[in-house]
Amino acid sequence: MNAELNAPDLSFDQVDPVYRAFIDDYLRLHGLDPARFCKPLPGQDEMFFKAILPNYEFEASISAFKFVESTIRLGEAYRQLVEGVFGGYRNLGPVLDFASGWGRLTRYLEQRLDPSQIRVADIYHQAIDWQVSTFGVAGTYSDKDPAQLSYAGKHDIVLAGSMFSHLPAGLFHAWLDKLFSLVSDRGLLAFSVHDEAILPIGETMDASGLHFLRFSESGSLDLDIYGMSYVTEDFVGRAIARLGPNLSWRRFPKGLYENQDLYVVGAPGVDLSGLRLGSVPMGGFETLTTLSTGEIEYAGWAIERTPGAAVEAVAVHVDGAEVLTVLPDAERPDVQKHFPGSANAPVGWRFRLAARPGAMVRVELRSTSGLKGHCYAQAPLGASFTYSGWSRRGLR
Ligand SMILES: C[S@@+](CC[C@H](N)C(=O)[O-])C[C@H]1O[C@@H](n2cnc3c(N)ncnc32)[C@H](O)[C@@H]1O
Repeated sequence: MNAELNAPDLSFDQVDPVYRAFIDDYLRLHGLDPARFCKPLPGQDEMFFKAILPNYEFEASISAFKFVESTIRLGEAYRQLVEGVFGGYRNLGPVLDFASGWGRLTRYLEQRLDPSQIRVADIYHQAIDWQVSTFGVAGTYSDKDPAQLSYAGKHDIVLAGSMFSHLPAGLFHAWLDKLFSLVSDRGLLAFSVHDEAILPIGETMDASGLHFLRFSESGSLDLDIYGMSYVTEDFVGRAIARLGPNLSWRRFPKGLYENQDLYVVGAPGVDLSGLRLGSVPMGGFETLTTLSTGEIEYAGWAIERTPGAAVEAVAVHVDGAEVLTVLPDAERPDVQKHFPGSANAPVGWRFRLAARPGAMVRVELRSTSGLKGHCYAQAPLGASFTYSGWSRRGLR
């Protein structure tokens, strides 16, 4: 299993010191210990080496930063589930991260819960072995056929992040049924999907409400069990209805990752009608311009994907201290195409600063949802300008 990918592990010690400082700051802002979080990225981790790294032009340092950023977005979604449904981590029992991969979420969760509360499962057995030995969590080997999974423990949260977004219809129903059976009486099942809003151009939604395409980032999983699937809300609603009568469930558009919708289904009698879950605002630096005054003008973009919410302020921090706040300026229709199906238009922002060369400049994107996104840059040192991201899509 997973034999085709065998890159060398990436140690966080190999990360450029400027990005490493961004990473450490980002983790500490979220109450995470960088030394504990920054275990090497195993060379067989397809999610890092075949998805994030190629998306950032094989630049290891920016990719490592993006890995951390994506983990924190995942963690923020998880935190909202925990606080919204259970009132906080202290009230939470056992949890299962199904299709955990190499434990992106585990790096975050093991700093919130006792490892004995965390179980991970994946079809990649080495990924499970690595997490068990590295983090001391419990592990279960999964199978391509849900009927072959004999594990039957119960969990307050069963999360399957970016798995149903890859399943054909038969397996979608079978895995939903199986994973729902692993939810405790007070618990919930959360899973992410690709909504029809991001169906690739030229593709047409099937009458069934699930459209399956035979390609994926995986180098080894059979396309009969793991491709790319796109669903309508109606399809998911009917799939949930098959699990039992009168279940409470919610859809949170763009609730997980950059582009996936999060569905949450309560165990019978668990009411999710009051649950609120927003997406962390995203954004980045794009340009800096030296002005005749000697100040530097920094500019960038931001997008709030949570329906009904908006980025209300952009707070600028230099070396950890807040120095000024600006309002977002004009909408950015040029950025919109990178976020199909987003509820809100992207916006731009700009500010002027005379920071010491080499200072860490952090932009905090404050949303009316209560969530904050963060982007980083280093104030220019001579001709060099380092900032927290660009991508193949041309966004910085
Ligand atoms: C896109 S990755 C997501 C990994 C992880 N949830 C994350 O967010 O980093 C999809 C994962 O689903 C796993 N997977 C695919 N089919 C599976 C199955 N039948 N049982 C368990 N895991 C499966 C893959 O091995 C892979 O690790």
